[in-house]
Amino acid sequence: MPNNQNTATDFSLILDNVLRRRQLLIGCGALSGIGLTWTPGVWAMDEIPSETTLDFEAVPANLLDTVTVPPGHTWHVVASWGDPLWSYGECFNEETRGSAHSQKLAFGDNNDGMELFVSNTRTLLAVNNEYVNLPVMYGNRASRAPETSEDVMKGQAAIGITIMEISLFNGTWSITKDSPLNRRITAQTPMKLTGPAAGTKLTITDLDPDGNLPLGTLNNCGSGRTPWNTYLSCEENFNLFFASSDREHNLSEECRRYGIRKNDRGYSWYSHDERFDIAKHPNEVNRFGYIVEIDPLNPSSLPKKHSALGRFKHENASVVVSKDNRIVVYMGDDERGEFLYRFISDSIFHPDADNSKILESGSLYVAKFADNERGKWVELTAESTGMASQAEVCVHTRKAGSIVGATTMDRPEWIAAHPHDEAIYCCLTNNKNRGRKTNAGGDKTSVDGPNPRPNNIYGHIIRWRPDEDDHANSDFSWDIFALAGNPHVHSGLNAGSPNINATNVFNSPDGLAFDSLGRLWIQTDGNYSNEGDFFRMGNNQMLVADTNAGEIKRFLVGPRECEVTGVTWSTDRKTMFVGIQHPGERGHSHFPGGKQSIPRSSIIAISRDDGKIIG
Ligand code: FEO
Ligand code: CA
Ligand code: CA
Repeated sequence: MPNNQNTATDFSLILDNVLRRRQLLIGCGALSGIGLTWTPGVWAMDEIPSETTLDFEAVPANLLDTVTVPPGHTWHVVASWGDPLWSYGECFNEETRGSAHSQKLAFGDNNDGMELFVSNTRTLLAVNNEYVNLPVMYGNRASRAPETSEDVMKGQAAIGITIMEISLFNGTWSITKDSPLNRRITAQTPMKLTGPAAGTKLTITDLDPDGNLPLGTLNNCGSGRTPWNTYLSCEENFNLFFASSDREHNLSEECRRYGIRKNDRGYSWYSHDERFDIAKHPNEVNRFGYIVEIDPLNPSSLPKKHSALGRFKHENASVVVSKDNRIVVYMGDDERGEFLYRFISDSIFHPDADNSKILESGSLYVAKFADNERGKWVELTAESTGMASQAEVCVHTRKAGSIVGATTMDRPEWIAAHPHDEAIYCCLTNNKNRGRKTNAGGDKTSVDGPNPRPNNIYGHIIRWRPDEDDHANSDFSWDIFALAGNPHVHSGLNAGSPNINATNVFNSPDGLAFDSLGRLWIQTDGNYSNEGDFFRMGNNQMLVADTNAGEIKRFLVGPRECEVTGVTWSTDRKTMFVGIQHPGERGHSHFPGGKQSIPRSSIIAISRDDGKIIG
């Protein structure tokens, strides 16, 4: 991989490249296999906004403890952490912050990626519940941390996935209690492990000697959906939930690569549920870090963890279809200096066939970027890596990527496929180690083409397009769509690319999704200090981009100390659902209840006052 240290200072070269590629992308707008992943809604012409681009008044940055949307738009809360899904569940109790029992029957904490499904007349949201805000959830304890087994069980019930029916009444969406499709999936829900790692010496445990029935899912971050209408939930920072009771325990190199540590991170799971004690059950960690597939329309279905898609800190899963109708999944590993991956199924997708096993076997690739705006997907096999088996590749996937010389990236977050062409976009949220430190595997994080800034505090959005517009093609072209930055305080690279200006400054792009109009929604999880390098950026926010013109406009500002993450739309595209995660993570928010309420992660619904579609 060429390494051009001068690239970081040659701003004009980067801009030239951005603009040149933009022209290239505008010129090729053909619909092909990708259309299979998304069926546009049918609506009357007068329901489409007069301009389908960015037809709203930009929202100024702010530090308010509420959600701010443009004039002509209205929002309301659909669900908040702890809201019961069944009528026999308890209403959320601000003093106790719920119990293990009430939490099992309620919306989980820290909602993240989500997708909307329909079943006849029912509308369902499948939502990830990523982790637990310890000081808030355990604010009933003096330690503000779990102290008992009951506390640990409450935390285990607060993460995973919530599947809930929602309904619209008098303009307001809310949970449909007691729907037969309501379901909670937690750290204790039985699952099936599929693919090369299932039933191997890497995945067997005392509790599961066959190595194919893991219990639970952890740190479910971004989402994805398949063309056969299943939900993909992505296990990210699973390492946080493990610790060791034995101070002398010898942590393997493979464990260290994934950030497994002997010290507890505040969850105390290892001391109340020995599955999470790595000294006692060293293989348990190998049963997390996967893409989980769930059929939200079948509440009794067993979720599947697909090892063929690799084990790493999965951010989200962007699913497209190749020209020969194989399923292609683009995936990022969100850690400083980790990699981008692609999976291609062995089987062909057919809309009328049983597609339930498609993600169980296929080929896994990792991205190598060259400075000349070209790149290649390199297949990860026992042969290409010298590893003992495909099971090793699929469990120690980061190591496999390092062996073949994959390109270290600035923390890949969400990946989104353009609905009208074959361009793929990815948020590289930030990387303070760029140019300074290797990744955990010792790979250099050189300042080069796809990661052009040392100490990348603002993040950027990269995009690539496969040769011949075929996602099965291993060669691609790439460019940078936006370099976030702050022209209020910097010039040069840290002012950002030309599409960043005083009215749309942001940092740390994270969530990313296209709407049906082909507009790109960008959500941030960054520094909300509003000071120094982040002057006038305000709270975390959501922006929307016209990827043809390159224009980016701020659409929403979240409440204090939140992250904005997760976005999906109603089938008539008149409601946009947006996730507000961990408001008040440092103790300075009362969202959404206001006054003296404790802060609660929530899903909000946004609509246009003129009743037109919103995306
Ligand atoms: Fe869960 Fe990388 O965000
Ligand atoms: Ca994220
Ligand atoms: Ca993030």
